[in-house]
Amino acid sequence: MMKTLYVQIVLTFLGAILISLIITFLISGRIHMYQVGDRLETRMEEVGKDIIQLYKGTPEMDETLYFDSMSSVSFDLLLMKEQSDTPVYGKNLDQWGLQDDELQKVLAGGVYRGHDLPPRKVVGLPFQKGEESYALFLRPNFKFFFQDFEKLMLILFSTILVIGSVIFLISTRWIISPIKEMTQSTKELARGNFNVFIKNKRKDELGNLTNSFNQMTRGLGELDEMRHQFVTNVSHEIQTPLTSIQGFAKALKDGVVKDASQQKEYLSIIEQESKRLSVLSQNLLKLARLDTDQDPIQPVPYQLDEQLRRVITFLEPQWTAKENDIQLDVKPLKIEGDKDQLEQVWINLLTNAIRYNPVGGIIKVTAKASFDHVEIAISDHGEGIAEEEQHRIFDRFYKVDPSRSKQNNGNGLGLSIAQKITQLHGGKIEVESDVGVGTTFYVTLPLKAHY
Ligand SMILES: Nc1ncnc2c1ncn2[C@@H]1O[C@H](COP(=O)(O)OP(=O)(O)OP(=O)(O)O)[C@@H](O)[C@H]1O
Ligand SMILES: [Mg+2]
Repeated sequence: MMKTLYVQIVLTFLGAILISLIITFLISGRIHMYQVGDRLETRMEEVGKDIIQLYKGTPEMDETLYFDSMSSVSFDLLLMKEQSDTPVYGKNLDQWGLQDDELQKVLAGGVYRGHDLPPRKVVGLPFQKGEESYALFLRPNFKFFFQDFEKLMLILFSTILVIGSVIFLISTRWIISPIKEMTQSTKELARGNFNVFIKNKRKDELGNLTNSFNQMTRGLGELDEMRHQFVTNVSHEIQTPLTSIQGFAKALKDGVVKDASQQKEYLSIIEQESKRLSVLSQNLLKLARLDTDQDPIQPVPYQLDEQLRRVITFLEPQWTAKENDIQLDVKPLKIEGDKDQLEQVWINLLTNAIRYNPVGGIIKVTAKASFDHVEIAISDHGEGIAEEEQHRIFDRFYKVDPSRSKQNNGNGLGLSIAQKITQLHGGKIEVESDVGVGTTFYVTLPLKAHY
C-alpha cells in the first residue's frame, strides 16, 4: 500500500494536517481560556451577586431547590455557613480545592478570586443573611463551558480535513501525472520504441524533468538510428569485397580463366580485397577502442618534427609510386600526446593527400607552434572537396566518391579516426578545400596535455 508515491504523499499530507490540527486545537484552546478568563470572573461575580440577592430576599425558600436550579445553568455552586464544615449547599468540598484560611477570609467578608485558568476558576462572595455570615463559591460548569468550544472546533477541523483531503487527492494526482507518464514511456524505451514524447506545459521541476526526459529519448532515438546505420554500413563494407572474392575464387576454381596472367590478376584482386577486409576490421577495432576505452589516450612528451619525418619516410613507397614530392617545413617541436595515436592521424591524412594528389604533385606539411598550441597543416593539390561535402567527410563510412574510394581500398573511416583522436587530445581538425585547386587539413593540438 505504502509503495506508490501517490499514497506516500497523501498519507504524509494527512499526517501533517492531523498533527497541525491537534496542535492548533491545544494552542487555540489555551489562548481562548486566557481571553475569556477575565470576562468570566466579572460575569461570575455578577451572577453570584444576583443569586445572593434573590436568596436573601426570599426567606422561606427551599435552599436545595433554589441552588439546584441556579447551578444547572452554567456554574457549580457551593454555599458555606460560618462555624460549619459541611456545606449548606453543594457537594464534594475537597474537589473545590479551597484552603480553610481562604474560606475563613470570605466568611469574614472578603472576596475570593482563584487564579487558575477556566474552567478551574473559582470565585467566592461573602454575604450576610440574618445574623449569619455565608460564603457563596462559584465555578464554571466544565461540561457546559467546554461543549460549545469543542463542538465548534470539531466541526471546523473536520471540515478542513475533509475539504483539504479532497483537494489534495486531486492536486496530487495532477502533480504525480508526469511521473506516471514517464514510467510508462521508460517501459516503451526498454522495449526499443524510441518514438515516445510526453506533452509538457509545466515550468516547475517536474516540467524540467519531463523536458530532459524528452531530450534523452530523442538522443536515444538518434543513437539507435546511428547504430542501425553503422551496422548497415559495416555489412555493406564487408559484403562488397566478399562478393568479389567469392566471384573470382569461383571463376578460378571452375577453370573459367585459362590465361595465366589473367589468373594472376584474379588472385591479386582476391588478395587486395582480403587486405581491404583486414584494414576494415582493424579500423573498426580502433574506433571501438577509442569510443569505449576509459583512458584511450596515454600522453607522453615527444618530438613532433621527428615523428612527422618518420611517417613521411614510412609512406615513401606510396608517394614515390605517384611521383609525388613531400615538402616538410617544421622546426624542432616538442609536444605532449599519445605518440601511437597521433602517428595514426598523420598516416591517415597523408594517405588521403597522396591518394587524391595528381601524379607528380606536391604535398606540403607544416607545423607551427604558438604559446599553448600547435597547428599542423597538410595540403595537396588534388581534386578538392565540394563545399557541401566538407562537413560530412568526417562521418564514419562517408566517401565523396564511393567508386574512387573503392579503387583506393578506402572504407571511409580514416578521417573519422583522425578526428576522434584529435578530439580526445583536446584539439580539433578542420578542412579547407577548393574543387580543382586542392585541400588542406589543419590539426590543432594543445602543447601540454590537460585531458
Ligand atoms: N585530401 C583529400 N582530397 C580530396 N578528397 C579527400 C581528401 N581526403 C579525404 N577526402 C574525401 O573524404 C572521404 C573520407 O575520407 P576518409 O579518409 O575518411 O576515407 P577514405 O580515405 O575513403 O577511406 P579510408 O581512410 O578508410 O581508407 C574520402 O572518401 C574522400 O572522398
Ligand atoms: Mg582516408
